[in-house]
Amino acid sequence: MPARIIGTGSALPEKVVANQDLEKLMETTDEWIRSRTGIEKRHIAVTETTTSMAVEAAKRAIDSAGISADEIDLIIVGTVSGDMCFPSTACQIQDAVLAKNATAFDINAACAGFLFGLTIADAYMKSGMAKTALVVGAETLSKMMDWNDRSTCVLFGDGAGAAVVRDDDAGIISIVQGSDGARGNALTCRNREVNNPFVKNSCELDYTSMDGQAVYKFAVKTVPAAITEALDKAGISPDQVKYFLLHQANIRIIEAVAKKMKQPIEKFPTNLQECGNISAGSVPILLDFVNQEGKLVKGDKIVLAGFGAGLTWGAAVLTW
Ligand code: UT7
Repeated sequence: MPARIIGTGSALPEKVVANQDLEKLMETTDEWIRSRTGIEKRHIAVTETTTSMAVEAAKRAIDSAGISADEIDLIIVGTVSGDMCFPSTACQIQDAVLAKNATAFDINAACAGFLFGLTIADAYMKSGMAKTALVVGAETLSKMMDWNDRSTCVLFGDGAGAAVVRDDDAGIISIVQGSDGARGNALTCRNREVNNPFVKNSCELDYTSMDGQAVYKFAVKTVPAAITEALDKAGISPDQVKYFLLHQANIRIIEAVAKKMKQPIEKFPTNLQECGNISAGSVPILLDFVNQEGKLVKGDKIVLAGFGAGLTWGAAVLTW
């Protein structure tokens, strides 16, 4: 049976940092950020952590689904910014929400993390290995930014989004995903180097580095192709889709995808204006915003799409 999304939740840090606040910290302008990306502000963690936001989003999704946490048998978290190397963020959520019957693990597919998590949940359900899953995308990217590098730090924000999915007679119709490790250098953040009594290296952690134009070109080519392939597989035309919920990296990328798909921009809801790019958190947070606004009606066809470091990408067509 396919996986159907039956509840959503999200959590954002309390502190809001506007473009004008960044003007005071570095050589940048509200005009540059707004015109190049569409971003106006972002939420930045001060007291929150990846786990605390993920737990909050998960609790809200469980409430919204109207289920008991012990019905959850699978928890998957897409994140590149977990608080701990281990235990996983997923295991910490399991403990916090008392989902004692769940198998829990994290995955790293960067900004496509939620889409990849959904794909795994769907595969577990189709194979009968799970019935009710919690899929989360959670990030505190602000701790992985070089705040002296204006070309990256202005783009990202912190937050978490979650969805409860359950095997049902309708739900995910088709999913397309892919990776291109050969282009991985376009967006990187190095982990600790080898360091032990036999070799000395720095223990310092690296920061995010991006070839913005390379990622931009990849996104405007790959995302429409992946969505088109997923729609073809589903036997659904773009006109039948109510909303296309895309990773919130840049308004210009979203406009380019809308144009290539020959669809009105109104079918592409956005929240990057107030959230910036939250990597794996972007798609589930946007989904929750749209759901909370009451814009989704049972039976609607929607498309979710994520893309980013790896390079990785994924697109899903589903029935709400
Ligand atoms: O989530 C993962 C997926 N990520 C993405 O999808 C990101 C994709 N890429 C992009 O969205 C865009 O490439 C960026 C928004 C990152 C950059 O926009 P761009 O139009 O490609 O700008 P650019 O990198 O070509 O930079 C243009 C100029 C440069 O100055 P010069 O060399 O022309 O004098 C930069 O130094 O803008 C300068 N610049 C800035 N100026 C003011 C770069 N960052 C800033 C800044 N404020 N924050």
